[in-house]
Amino acid sequence: MTRQWWKESVVYQIYPRSFNDSNNDGIGDINGIIQKLDYLKELGVDVIWLSPVYESPNDDNGYDISDYTRIMSDFGTMEDWDRMLQEIHKRNMKLIMDLVINHTSDEHNWFVESRKSTDNAFRDYYIWRDKPNNWESAFSGSAWKYDKTTNQYYLHLFSQKQPDLNWENPDVRNDLFTMMKWWLDKGVDGFRMDVINFISKDQRLPDGEANNGKLYASGHSYYMNGPRVHEFLQEMNQKTLANYDIMTVGEMPGVTPEQAKLYTAESRNELDMVFHFEHMDIDSGPDGKWDIKPWSLVELKQILSKWQTELEYEGWNSLYWNNHDQPRVVSRFGDDGAYRVESAKMLATTLHMMKGTPYIYQGEELGMTNVRFNKIASYRDIETLNMYEEKINEGAEEKALLETIHAKSRDNARTPMQWDSSANAGFTETAPWLQVNPNYVDINAASAVADPNSIYHYYRKLIALRKKYPIVVYGSYELLMPESESIFAYTRELRNKHLLVVSNFTNEFVHFEIPKDYLKATKIIGNYHERNEKLEQKLELKPYESCVYYDADF
Ligand code: NOJ
Repeated sequence: MTRQWWKESVVYQIYPRSFNDSNNDGIGDINGIIQKLDYLKELGVDVIWLSPVYESPNDDNGYDISDYTRIMSDFGTMEDWDRMLQEIHKRNMKLIMDLVINHTSDEHNWFVESRKSTDNAFRDYYIWRDKPNNWESAFSGSAWKYDKTTNQYYLHLFSQKQPDLNWENPDVRNDLFTMMKWWLDKGVDGFRMDVINFISKDQRLPDGEANNGKLYASGHSYYMNGPRVHEFLQEMNQKTLANYDIMTVGEMPGVTPEQAKLYTAESRNELDMVFHFEHMDIDSGPDGKWDIKPWSLVELKQILSKWQTELEYEGWNSLYWNNHDQPRVVSRFGDDGAYRVESAKMLATTLHMMKGTPYIYQGEELGMTNVRFNKIASYRDIETLNMYEEKINEGAEEKALLETIHAKSRDNARTPMQWDSSANAGFTETAPWLQVNPNYVDINAASAVADPNSIYHYYRKLIALRKKYPIVVYGSYELLMPESESIFAYTRELRNKHLLVVSNFTNEFVHFEIPKDYLKATKIIGNYHERNEKLEQKLELKPYESCVYYDADF
């Protein structure tokens, strides 16, 4: 396994709309990010992943790009962006840009041209057909939209304003690669690639298997990890990525470890790592994310451990608990009430001690929680609003829908960053684009930075451990007690050095038997600071307690 800077890094994701508003228009912006770079440096992160800041009509908050080479005016100017990059580099941090190239906005010039006539030079930049198939859009309803100008339908796997690009067309690929080179030459340190395993569609575009007489069906098997995806990524790598010292991470719903190895094996020259979704789907039933079911620790461990071991010799894992599309981790897998602080630290320990590159989503380091707005009018997310409308039309109860939204809406992650206890959490001085979570009075960066026992300082220590102990980055992984419903324990090993990580996922006291070999190990971090450092064979773990033991010589 080769050493790489991006294996040794910790990435911090910024969702710019909700991060910090410098000009008090209620929307976060690039100058707001610059103001907080010292905060991020203090935390110890190495890389910033910036969600899209390109020009966009904001149907999907910037994931619908109308010009890849301009900055959205809500966020500032290209000069602001250039200055941000300089300031990031000055602090020895790196910047990776979100790259949304499965689709564009319908307001992108390519699409404006494409829809004009069937013989337009850009017609073939998108996917047009006389008849739609039965695929469902990720944001509800059909994935096809009728366009009366030319009497054809275009494919949009996401919103109607996000037409899918036709990667079969070499001009599309070349234009995208030219654009990527333009950003790389400006000095960006890599890309996070949006739904990049959707770019190759089965050209027959077959109907998906209809489910319970529903109107639309999933077309996943015809566009996730499609027939030419590896060929396209190898071409991209060769024409752009290979010439720069950068990192790449592909967002890949539906990816399996076997496929992930193909995407990330060093010898194949595609991407450095992928985001899989298996642990994010653990509380979704057969009807998808809104069909909520209880999750189990046994399954969570099984999924994460499978990824750890499958990618042991080939490829590389990205480690994450949440992002701008997912609920807040402490509300989902921890306890956002009485044990918020303990469980947030426990979850952080469990993730950051695994093998892979950890990602922190803004506010996770503060233990920010899900939000519970009591009316749909407070929500802004297109996925949430479309689902609500569809279900209300089908006769669903508002109360039940709001419950689901409280658990799963993407707006849980998008409420503004909680900087301090002043009005609007110090995010802005005016009404924010999405209301702040009322708990900002207690949960905010200013108080976390001032409190040495805060979640924030705990993250700092975890990041520092990664820098101090190569075993955290490169050690092999082994799960202990796979059947335990309360404890997540695993070991790491690197050249006779060992780590033992033990986490209690419950709000009760539980017992853990320390493996004999570890009895002389030293505790290097834990979330209950009063615990005696000396190890006894029978360890009693407090609610949500998590500890890491290190032994250099057995
Ligand atoms: C995945 C992004 O993370 C999400 O926010 C977006 O809505 C879709 N891709 C479509 O771009």
